[in-house]
Amino acid sequence: MTTAVARPFESRTQQILTSLKESGQLKHLQTIEGPMGATVRLRGYGEVACFCSNNYLGLADHPEVVEAGIEGLRRYGAGTASVRFICGTFECHETLEARIAELYGCEAAYTFTSCWNANEAIFPTLCEPGDLVISDELNHASIIDGIRLAAVIKKGLHKGVYRHSDLGDLRAKLAAARANPEVTGAIWVVTDGVFSMEGDIGDLPGLRAVCDEFGAYLVVDDSHGTGVMGRTGRGTHEHWGMDATKVDYFTGTLGKSLGGAAGGYVVGSRKAIDLLIQRGRPTLFSNALPATVACSAQKAIEVLMREPQRVQRLRDNVAYARTTIREAGFDVLESPTAICPIIVHDTAKAIAMSRRLLELGVFVIGFGYPVVPEGHARLRCQVSAAHGKEHLDAFGAALRQLRKEFK
Ligand SMILES: Cc1ncc(COP(=O)(O)O)c(C=O)c1O
Repeated sequence: MTTAVARPFESRTQQILTSLKESGQLKHLQTIEGPMGATVRLRGYGEVACFCSNNYLGLADHPEVVEAGIEGLRRYGAGTASVRFICGTFECHETLEARIAELYGCEAAYTFTSCWNANEAIFPTLCEPGDLVISDELNHASIIDGIRLAAVIKKGLHKGVYRHSDLGDLRAKLAAARANPEVTGAIWVVTDGVFSMEGDIGDLPGLRAVCDEFGAYLVVDDSHGTGVMGRTGRGTHEHWGMDATKVDYFTGTLGKSLGGAAGGYVVGSRKAIDLLIQRGRPTLFSNALPATVACSAQKAIEVLMREPQRVQRLRDNVAYARTTIREAGFDVLESPTAICPIIVHDTAKAIAMSRRLLELGVFVIGFGYPVVPEGHARLRCQVSAAHGKEHLDAFGAALRQLRKEFK
């Protein structure tokens, strides 16, 4: 008689999905039937005002950005079917990277198929055993996982976390690290420029000063800051009046304000980029950005540099949206970023509220665990330069109705 081998995956997965459904926490993917803009056509809902996209500059459906992608496809085909160091680097990758470096005013840049990949490349590649990487507790998941991966690959690499935007805590931890004989190498301090769930900003001048005190490198993921922050949208460093070279390394995405398709990058010294080309595992073992995306992103950067008024328009919309949220009776953190979270604590409530908003013609997503910690669920409202007054007013009317229905 043969004994049945246990196959636990199916039943435990069913349990997880059932419990998510029963507690009202199951996520539903909405299907969009046209381009991303101030409004989108959603299957089952029709045309709704979109307040949950990172399409901050409204470039996702910009005619020049779309045309550049089509032209890229015509010129280069779908791809080279190869990683870049074999035969997978097109001219458009080189020109895009030169553009990104120019946007930041830094020496060099290298692109990846996502910023997730960029964050999983930078730490495991640049860090070595004996180094310390210390990260803000609210940093994006891709930074957290990139650092975890680095510690697995480079045994003897130390990792730490400092309290959110708490320079005193960071200083204390760096002082302890400098006194630790096992920390023999470089120290890396990592922060989001704009924190994706809170919509607040990293204190880059303060972080730079602490890094200088302890001889540490500063790494900033400015995925939500690029195209948004600063007078010309260069990013959070520009907001603070800092030269980009005061930040040692940036990571960022092409999947938000810079065209919104996909892709990420590391920006910094030529040496670091050369090391990523030689040793980065996502570089060595994964294909490049599709040419269509590289060409669209390059055009999006060109439009940003040519039309800084888009950034001003976004800033005006952000101020108007924050006032609108408050006038509807909700609290929202004061900040110049385009991320306006309304904290509702309970995940099921956040999901129910976002469903109701959709019925009212406004697309906003409710975020709960595990995207944010348990008890910190929120509606994350995001503003775009594409929004006109009519969209912002529709957003306000829907929020006022929501306030009446959800105490
Ligand atoms: C701060 C931050 N870093 C990285 C990423 C990942 O970007 P990508 O979609 O390019 O992988 C995101 C996306 O949400 C983000 O908010």
